[in-house]
Amino acid sequence: DTQSKYGPLIGSIDEGTSSTRFLVFASKTAEVLTYHQKEVPHIIPQEGWFEQDPMVILNAVIETIDVTCDNLKKLNINYEDIVALGITNQRETTVLWDPTTGKPLYNALVWMDMRTSSTVDMILQNGKRSQNFLQNVCGLPVSTYFSALKIRWMMDNVEGVREAMSQGRCYFGNIDTWLIWNLTGGVNGGLHITDVTNASRTMLMHIDTLKWDKNLCKVFEIPMDILPEIRSSSEIYGYVANVTKLSGVPISGILGDQQAALVGQMCFNIGQAKSTYGTGCFILYNTGNSTVRSSHGLLTTVGYQLGPHDKPVYALEGSVAIAGISIRWLRDNLKLLKDPAESTEIALSADEPGEVYFVPAFSGLYAPYWRKDARSVMCGLTEETKPGHVVKAALEAVCFQVRDVLEAMALDCGIALTKLLVDGGMTANDYLMQLQADYCGIPVVRPTMTETTALGAALAAGIAEGVEVWKLHNIEPVPSDTFVPSIDEDVRDIKYSRWKMAIKRSLGWAVD
Ligand code: G3P
Repeated sequence: DTQSKYGPLIGSIDEGTSSTRFLVFASKTAEVLTYHQKEVPHIIPQEGWFEQDPMVILNAVIETIDVTCDNLKKLNINYEDIVALGITNQRETTVLWDPTTGKPLYNALVWMDMRTSSTVDMILQNGKRSQNFLQNVCGLPVSTYFSALKIRWMMDNVEGVREAMSQGRCYFGNIDTWLIWNLTGGVNGGLHITDVTNASRTMLMHIDTLKWDKNLCKVFEIPMDILPEIRSSSEIYGYVANVTKLSGVPISGILGDQQAALVGQMCFNIGQAKSTYGTGCFILYNTGNSTVRSSHGLLTTVGYQLGPHDKPVYALEGSVAIAGISIRWLRDNLKLLKDPAESTEIALSADEPGEVYFVPAFSGLYAPYWRKDARSVMCGLTEETKPGHVVKAALEAVCFQVRDVLEAMALDCGIALTKLLVDGGMTANDYLMQLQADYCGIPVVRPTMTETTALGAALAAGIAEGVEVWKLHNIEPVPSDTFVPSIDEDVRDIKYSRWKMAIKRSLGWAVD
């Protein structure tokens, strides 16, 4: 029977920026038994704006759960064997809704949305305050990226939001919160909760106390009663209501998707780091139970807290807004390729020399620059430039941005990384992984099981008190492939210095 072959099953909802997935893990082997995925459309009402419909996200999640349950049946596996659910999600993306009707007050403002640029200027009093004036409290620079700015923008620009707030008819949540409220009953008593990792991305949580901070809320004028309760990343929060086939199953794990990858990659020791290549690219470095405030443009964030009585583990994060999405842009806007899977072939068709450098600053530049006024640039074009050069430049841009972050990490931590663990959709590309090793000068280690984000959320759910199908130290790390640097150091340095010149132009765009 399936129980003895697979052990109890754990479900993992992975709601990312581009698609939502539901995966089922066997606790005996930690392997994925089956999954279903659905793309979630982006709504771009004007340049720099980036929305998603919260109802579409919710329905996509419910659909992926139910289709996956059907898939399990086809494999002769009982979905009734799913004993717990974990949730991992795109972070910062902000939903405001009316808990009496269950209706969103506006579309979700997605993390990379730039409309909050004027809100940033207002909070910084047009440059009178430093971008880091709240760093000591929340670990973050004031940026378009974080939820507080998005909430404030909706208060100032969306009719009915302030009114709903004053009448106690407004809940705030990131995608984890929105989904859990709906999955646990919605208007009929849904839970209004989040976990420490998601809360650490709002700019409203004190990074040391792990509580909503009165003074931070005052800076943004955000009423505290719209905020969800902050819980640990691993505990039974509640049970799925009668909205999917999994009704009655406990929800027992929540992690922001980048923190979930840290857990899924088993980076449980100080000094371990991982880089996840999705829509953006996010590098997290475990700093243990203490926080490190960055002096070089990195974020201080909660890595995980695996139980209400456990100590939190912190991380330094380098967030790169544009990675996989630039390849999508080459496909959809420039029509240089039909499928991202062609990127290697096209890049290899570019003959050397012909060095093009492309800084994709579609959301300004995040770490380590934090410049919302940065603009995309492409340098080094000649009459010989072919599509291959541009595609290669887009792939190289991902690797150089990761190197920018690793340099900042070495400066903040005093020790350079000796290897980089990687995961995420783009890591299927061997060519990109080799470029990454070449341009960082350290081995790049890719697990053979690439569903590390979903695994992280499943682990958090599976080790929770009351579920306990896993014990963290019993789980074997998955086998991996290693890409070793293959270019000379001077070649690496020349290329990187040219990248830095391109960055200078991207940053200088608005000034010159
Ligand atoms: O901070 C944004 C991040 O959580 C988005 O992740 O995987 O959707 O690119 P992803």
